[in-house]
Amino acid sequence: MRENTSDPQSTPSPLSRETLVVSAGRPAAEHDAPVNTPIHLSSTFHGSGPILASDRAYGRFTNPTWEEFESVIGRLEGTDLPALLYGSGMAAVSAVLEQVPVGSVIVMPEHTYLGTMALARQMQDRGISRLVEVPIEDTDAVIRTLTEQVRTLPQPAGPDVAAPYVLFWAESPTNPMMEVADLPVLLAAARGIGVRTAVDNTFATPMAQRPLEWGADYVVHSATKYLAGHSDVILGAVVTADPELRRQALAKRSLAGGIPGPFEAWLGLRGVRTLALRVRQATANAQVLAERLAAHPAIASVRYPGLPGDAGHERAAAQMDGFGSVLSATLHADAATTEAFVDAVRLWTPATSLGGVESLIERRRRHSTEAKTVSESLVRLAVGIEDVEDLWADLLQALDSVTR
Ligand SMILES: Cc1ncc(COP(=O)(O)O)c(C=O)c1O
Repeated sequence: MRENTSDPQSTPSPLSRETLVVSAGRPAAEHDAPVNTPIHLSSTFHGSGPILASDRAYGRFTNPTWEEFESVIGRLEGTDLPALLYGSGMAAVSAVLEQVPVGSVIVMPEHTYLGTMALARQMQDRGISRLVEVPIEDTDAVIRTLTEQVRTLPQPAGPDVAAPYVLFWAESPTNPMMEVADLPVLLAAARGIGVRTAVDNTFATPMAQRPLEWGADYVVHSATKYLAGHSDVILGAVVTADPELRRQALAKRSLAGGIPGPFEAWLGLRGVRTLALRVRQATANAQVLAERLAAHPAIASVRYPGLPGDAGHERAAAQMDGFGSVLSATLHADAATTEAFVDAVRLWTPATSLGGVESLIERRRRHSTEAKTVSESLVRLAVGIEDVEDLWADLLQALDSVTR
């Protein structure tokens, strides 16, 4: 498969991520060449004779517009191997989960994104793998579980059948409980005992943490969220620094076809140019809102790793560059009053999702599949880049309207 050779900085470089989001993944800097990658609408590519691995060949295998975005995501995550784009975050998640051989075990946080958890449950129901849930904040308990699962793995079903393994799937911070995992310790421990590892880095973004640098085998993104950044496209990505794992994932994507459209990839590439600015502004807003909500009498508790009293604060301060821009707040109220609060906002948008320029708010238990350990009165706030005083004024009037 053709890699992006047109990128002027395709060798390892000390460029900061603030620069990379702008400068990586562009056409060759030649006289009269376009500055931006066009949307390549072509389902096939010229060619004859045997198809080489370096050929584009067909639009299900690669596309020049994807390649530019893939190179940006790979480099943001700290590898010169381009990411692989998918038609959605869930297609990227399933590209990693569905690789596990029969008899494998998938270990996941109790509060894993509900779609990912549902997929792992379906795989269990189909007899492919087992799902084991762990309290991700408890590092010792997670390592004990991983060790035990490795020890009790079944033998392969036959000499030509792939050997089962343990896949440790991590999210940090978790969705929507905002628990922070000790990723450097957990990933090192997992690697040491032969556990394969994947981190969904959607919430944190590569601006805040780069799990490949701690030894993760895969990083997965719902690029729908911060990477694309404008709530106008559904996209996913898988990143790995291991050429063999990338080759396998690319072969599977080419066969299974969970690919994005070139226009969607172009929107993602356009959106990622402002990732650094958006993340910085949204993170600053989230910090202010978390502090003010925590002090408000209508709020029972706030989870945000940027709060000094938060259970994940010290860990996040040590391992993340910034605390992200999602927070959860639990109201002193029942489910109906919490819904009324969500309905009372005027500037915020009541909607699921996160990572766009606009601030979204959602009572998470409106999803019937959300974990029952999530309070009925918990709202997830996905903070955008608006003026923080306007965001706060809107939350205040909505809180006043339901607590009056
Ligand atoms: C953490 C996380 N991972 C994966 C996904 C799935 O991504 P998509 O909606 O792009 O399929 C989501 C979607 O909300 C998510 O929040």
